[in-house]
Amino acid sequence: MKRIIAPSILAADFNHLGRDIEMINNSEAGYIHFDVMDGVFVPNISFGLPVIEHVNKIARKPLDVHLMIVNPDALIPSFVNAGASIVTVHYEACAHLHRTVQYIKKLGAKASVCLNPHTPVSVLENIITEVDMVLLMSVNPGFGGQSFIENTYKKVAQLRELIDRNKLECLIEVDGGVNYETGKNLFDNGADVLVAGSFVFSSVNPAETIRNLKNL
Ligand code: DX5
Ligand code: ZN
Repeated sequence: MKRIIAPSILAADFNHLGRDIEMINNSEAGYIHFDVMDGVFVPNISFGLPVIEHVNKIARKPLDVHLMIVNPDALIPSFVNAGASIVTVHYEACAHLHRTVQYIKKLGAKASVCLNPHTPVSVLENIITEVDMVLLMSVNPGFGGQSFIENTYKKVAQLRELIDRNKLECLIEVDGGVNYETGKNLFDNGADVLVAGSFVFSSVNPAETIRNLKNL
């Protein structure tokens, strides 16, 4: 397993976004996580292409773009052109997921599929060999700062078993309610990447919090 921390800029200070991106650049974070929300797939609107285009100008870590949007196919090229290295689409938003995954990879980005808390890992049986990462939501998507859903540990273990059984390199990323306690349990159950927003940006020393999460 890898131990990658992906700070979510959803919780950053948008009045000082450049400062927060430089903090991430100089930290032990592996990715910069962008929670893109359209107000339709999830009951909130966050930010879109302009933010990613501008951050890409100063970012020194891969941009990990989480699309909580309907009809992601229409905007995948724009997000890749804006600088996305990893594009995550929701299983629940894709009628033709295999085609969408192939499309992301054809455009040169890593393809990742996200499962909402209610969606079982078993739905990935026939696509797991095609994806570079699976993102498991440990909160209901739409807002930062929510409480961690405990059933996620079981889903991480199930996904780890599916990946290892197929001898794949696919990463397991978890998003929502990550702190020192949930983060350690997630790594112990086989997660590779932890998305952390409020726990990192509400801390006194975000860079130190990132380092501590990585070393759990
Ligand atoms: C939910 C968002 C959050 C965010 C991280 O749609 O995806 O999970 O990334 O939130 P916290 O503040 O729980 O780390
Ligand atoms: Zn996310």
